[in-house]
This record gives sequence, structure tokens and C-alpha cells, in this order.
Amino acid sequence: MKNTKHLLLLAVLACSLIPLQAQKFQGLAQTPPMGWNSWNKFACDVSEKLIRETADAMVSSGMKDAGYEYVVIDDCWQVSRDSLGFIVADPQRFPSGIKALADYVHSKGLKFGIYSCAGDKTCGGRPAGRGHEYQDALMYAKWGVDYLKYDWCNTEKLNAEGAYTTMRDALHEAGRPIVFSLCEWGDNKPWKWAKEVGHLWRTTGDIYNCFDCINDHGTWKSWGVMQILDKQDGLRQYAGPGHWNDPDMMQVGNGMPLNEERAHFTMWCMMASPLISGNDLRKMSPETLGVLANKEVIAIDQDSLGIQGFRHAVKDSVETWMKPLKNGEWALCLLNRSKSPKSVELNWKTISVTDTLSNRTLDTTGKELYKIRDLWLKKNTGDTRKPLKAIIPGQDVLCLKIFK
Ligand code: GLA
Repeated sequence: MKNTKHLLLLAVLACSLIPLQAQKFQGLAQTPPMGWNSWNKFACDVSEKLIRETADAMVSSGMKDAGYEYVVIDDCWQVSRDSLGFIVADPQRFPSGIKALADYVHSKGLKFGIYSCAGDKTCGGRPAGRGHEYQDALMYAKWGVDYLKYDWCNTEKLNAEGAYTTMRDALHEAGRPIVFSLCEWGDNKPWKWAKEVGHLWRTTGDIYNCFDCINDHGTWKSWGVMQILDKQDGLRQYAGPGHWNDPDMMQVGNGMPLNEERAHFTMWCMMASPLISGNDLRKMSPETLGVLANKEVIAIDQDSLGIQGFRHAVKDSVETWMKPLKNGEWALCLLNRSKSPKSVELNWKTISVTDTLSNRTLDTTGKELYKIRDLWLKKNTGDTRKPLKAIIPGQDVLCLKIFK
């Protein structure tokens, strides 16, 4: 009892040391943010019509019900600054203004996000935040912005930690709680310093719409799903409630076959990644919706422990990924990276795995039985008494929840 009182006192004291403005930002993104962003599908072709229709579709498709929340306009919404230096939205594409658009998104029970950049200009060459941080933050707060993605183009000689900290302080001063998404591509190892600055940080360059390839643009490259996955090695200890590794927005629904979409989505969930869809929500196939809105796989991502999963083993192109979940449950997903089907066998009597980071163990060797649920079939498929044998199609996954 005495101890509890002491702990409570310490917590109150610790809280009172954090400035009031900053406290509002602390409870945000306790699970990886979920939403939609315009860039992957629409690039600079953004407008208030698109954003309104996307918000409508997020609700009517069932995406909102599955947990998607933020509707984020990426680059190219801005055209200039006014005589006082305030940012001006493109009047042709956003004739009603950003405030009205944010109000509309809010009226749907959703949250509204916007994009800018730490440099002089955004990656698309539009006016950006450098030197206008406090002014922009005030405007975002006035408009009712809930999420800011902040990019890293045209930042010559800027120090990343310093630049992002300035924007964070500006957001704090403006006083509206805003999820702060750092899009610094991992160049300056943000996982080492950004926990105190933002809620999520990109770990890599841009995702490319393919499962396993690299798109070489000459001076820079964009990366397929498997390439991005491999770049997350060694980063899981930096993620947790309120501060997430961000392997970029998803390409699910932008043309990959269903097996690849399923594998892409599953791996993002195993990595406790932000789930930001990047497709046209107005024209989704039922298959794509079935992937993006699979609540049981989403629950792996959104598990309240917030432990990023890990690659436990690799055998003949099949990777075993594991993620500890609350209540002693585990997700165990097998990813077949090759193009041909692979047969796999899980002999539970030999499986005892300890995650040294979270100090949690899955031990199915003993007498205690665990049940097994296939999260794509959405069926309980047995227990740990008998070995599990399966064939995983090429570039697909088998994703299981192990529970008592
Ligand atoms: C960068 C970012 C992308 C997107 C574009 C917009 O490349 O990494 O996610 O925001 O800029 O220009």
C-alpha cells in the first residue's frame, strides 16, 4: 500500500515536471496510428473532393469500424504564403479551405491530417516549414489538424533532431494535440532520438508498389515490401506505445495480387507498424477490403503491449515471425518469400522461444495446451497436441494466434 502511494506520488511529480502543453501529446498514439494518406495512389493529384469522398468511403466501407481513423492529405495541397507568411492552400483544389475540410472529416467521426516538410520546400516543391514552424503550427491548430506528417526534403545543413524538435515545440505551443509523424527516411537514425520528439518515424526511404524489387531513380531508390521489411532489422527495441517505427504507408490495394497484399499487410501488423492505407478507398475490391479490414490481424498490430515482432527463424525461404501479445498470447506468422509453394511443419513439442527484449516465453513443449487460430481463415484450427502441417503458397503467409 505504502509502495503504491509512493509510486503514485512519483508519477504525479514526474507529470508535473513535463510542461502542460507537452502533456497533451503524451497519451497520443498509444497503439500504432491507423488511417489513410493520399501520396501512394494520388501523389500531387489531391483535392477537397478526393478527401471528402475518401472520408465518406472510410466510413461506408467499414474501414472506420475496423479502426482506421486519420485521413491525411500528403504533399501538394499548399501553393504559397500570404503577405504575413501564413501558408495558403491551393484555392482551385481546396476552394472551401482546409478548416472546412477538417470540419467535414471530423463530422464523420474521423481525424484529419496534413503534410509539410522541415526544409524550405516540400519534396514536391511547395512552400514548407523552415522558418515558419510556429506560424504553421498555429494555423494547423486553428484548422483542427490532428496529425502532421513532416518530411525531410531541401533541408541542406539542417540538423534533423534540432529541426524536428523545433516543430515539436511549435506544435506544443499551439496547444492542439497533434500526432507528429517524422518522415526523415531513417537518414539520421531517428529511432535513437525521436521518442521524445514525435509519435512515429519513418525508418526507410519510400515504399515502391511491388512485393520484392528495388526501383532505382538514380540519385535515390524506392523499396519493395520485402526490402522495407529487411531494413527494420535491429530496430524493434525502439518501438512501443506512443513511439513507433514507421516502415511507410501501405501499398495494399494498388495492384499487387491478393497473396502479396495479404503478406504485406500481415508483416506490417507483425511489426506493430502504423497502418496507413495508401489506395483509393472509393474503389476498393472486396479482396483488398478483406485484407485491410481483417480485424483479427489488425488486433495483432494494435495489441496494447505494443511489442514489435521479430524474425525468429528462416528455413528454405520461409521466415517464422513472432510477436508477444497481451494475456500471454502470441502471434506466429510464417512468411513464404519465394514464388513457389512451400510445405511447413510446426512441431509444437519442440517449440520454446524466449523474446529477450520483452522477457516473454512461448513454450508449447510441456503439458499445457494452447489453441491455434488461423487469422486469415478466421477459424480455430486445433491445438498444440499435434504438429501443424500446411502448404503456404508463394509470397503468402500463414498467420496464427496461439492462446490458452
Ligand atoms: C517524400 C516522402 C513521401 C511523400 C513525398 C511527397 O518522398 O517520403 O512519403 O510524402 O515526399 O512529396
